[in-house]
Amino acid sequence: MYRTATCGELRLSDRNKEVTIAGWVQRSRKMGGMTFIDVRDRYGITQVVFSNELNPELVEAASKLGREYVVQITGKVEERASKNPNLPTGDIEILATDLKVLNKSEVPPFTIEENTDGGDDLRMKYRYLDLRRPSPRANLELRHRMAFEIRRYLDANHFLEIETPILVKSTPEGARDFVVPSRMNPGEFYALPQSPQIFKQLLMVSGFDRYFQLAKCFRDEDLRADRQPEFTQVDCEMSFVEQEDVINMFEGLVKHIFKYVKGIDFTEAFPRITWDDAMKYYGSDKPDIRFGMKFVELTDLVKGKGFAVMDDAEYTAGICVPGCAGYTRKQTDELTDFVKRPQIGAKGLVWVKIAEDGSIKSSVGKFFTDEQLKEWASAMNANPGDLLLILSGATAKTRKALGELRLEMGNRLGLRPKNVFAPLWVIDFPLFEWDEETQRYYAMHHPFTAPNPEDIPLLHSDTGKVRATAYDIVVNGTELGGGSIRIHDSRLQDTMFELLGFTPEKAHEQFGFLMNAFKYGAPPHGGLALGFDRFVSMLAELDSIRDTIAFPKNNSGRDVMNESPSPIDEAQLEELQLKLDLKD
Ligand code: AMO
Repeated sequence: MYRTATCGELRLSDRNKEVTIAGWVQRSRKMGGMTFIDVRDRYGITQVVFSNELNPELVEAASKLGREYVVQITGKVEERASKNPNLPTGDIEILATDLKVLNKSEVPPFTIEENTDGGDDLRMKYRYLDLRRPSPRANLELRHRMAFEIRRYLDANHFLEIETPILVKSTPEGARDFVVPSRMNPGEFYALPQSPQIFKQLLMVSGFDRYFQLAKCFRDEDLRADRQPEFTQVDCEMSFVEQEDVINMFEGLVKHIFKYVKGIDFTEAFPRITWDDAMKYYGSDKPDIRFGMKFVELTDLVKGKGFAVMDDAEYTAGICVPGCAGYTRKQTDELTDFVKRPQIGAKGLVWVKIAEDGSIKSSVGKFFTDEQLKEWASAMNANPGDLLLILSGATAKTRKALGELRLEMGNRLGLRPKNVFAPLWVIDFPLFEWDEETQRYYAMHHPFTAPNPEDIPLLHSDTGKVRATAYDIVVNGTELGGGSIRIHDSRLQDTMFELLGFTPEKAHEQFGFLMNAFKYGAPPHGGLALGFDRFVSMLAELDSIRDTIAFPKNNSGRDVMNESPSPIDEAQLEELQLKLDLKD
């Protein structure tokens, strides 16, 4: 037996017990005739003491231990003279009677402690060492607990966990596919699934009624803090349901996880907001509702007063920032620079400060009287001491920019604490999205999403106005998940493909098997997928989903540890009958 106890479990109640532990040498220090070693495993750290009086040879051996050596130690549990209240095992130590070195270690490239001296790249290159540190380990432990609770909830609700293939035909989730060449079928390729969307719908046709899977999904898209090229979804589908059933089931799941994993009990129903209102009040389809500062539209109030920027603008709106009337010129200039960044794209920022004594100062004081500015303030429910920030321009673009500014102000004022969670549902998404560049409609969700039945008459006449039966669950400004009720009628599905610009041949080539399946009695069905990595990173209060993944990719989609992607052998290319023709 390698051990009788882990490094995390011994307490004062174990005093005088003879135990054996095994683990890694975190560090050692000498004090007088004693050598102290901290031994670490997944469960914790236990202090071991070697005493010159008791066993000088062991002290000698202990003094040769290097960091990260793998050791096995036998000894007696004793009460510590100086206790460490920061360690669960801090009341005891093991007085060693035997020491075995199970394996040596080279000096690790960074210190394997919470506050490591290793930079990001180095830790990713040696991710297996990084994972010995407490917080990466805690993140993976949390990930496991959440997966376990998700399975418990879904199992109790009669969902079956069913695996779907990884080598598939392209699935239309809107990103680029990763492709895999087929040796047995030269010149032909599989795609890696962007999601199991089509398979889960087929499982409904097969009568499985309730399906789920912790599914690996692959999307070749630009990476951000909340995106990885391969990520995991809690993917679900249900038969004989309406939107309300799906929302209730997965609101229940999210509440279950918050309760049993995070100890947070949401007793009220999650708020719901239509997509239209989300854009109108927050300029985003994933609003952070931990704080207010909702948009107030001022278009009519500001027009026709001789200030060209506002006279010419399609839309003017502002946010009222509480308590910031004292902002200096430098601070308002910073905000102006913020909104003028290319990725935000506003041309300028108008501010109005309402001092505590009610007097008003504004960057557009030359163009508007104090009376007019007071009208704005009253439309925006401003109080003395508040700062109004106002943008003008084309509606969609200006809303987006104002939304970014709102989040920036939320950050500056500390209104977005990571340990406060504000979930909500965004409903009534548009079914289609118009793309100026290609002059055609795209499915906002995916082409299997059912239109809102009330809007079916508009499909041809007012395509852009048709609402989808689609819903997203949003937490703290992040899209945690999304889903929809699907089209189960093959005629409606044909119409959808037609509106999306597929010829019947093209639609058949890409989705023929699904359309065929729908001819054999598809039940009404719908579902949703939660971004599992995002869910874990939220509960772990992290900034990036990367830290929730054991072996993540960096921002260029590389695994710097195993150095992938990498070229393949000439022989492999030949076998696949592929030739490279790289453009620089
Ligand atoms: P969707 O494309 O909205 O829906 O994806 C569902 C959820 O998956 C997460 N997600 C990601 N997480 C990390 N990295 C990525 N690159 C990434 N892309 C998406 C998000 C998102 O909300 N088949 C549909 C679901 C359905 O209709 O049932 C789908 O995949 O949290």
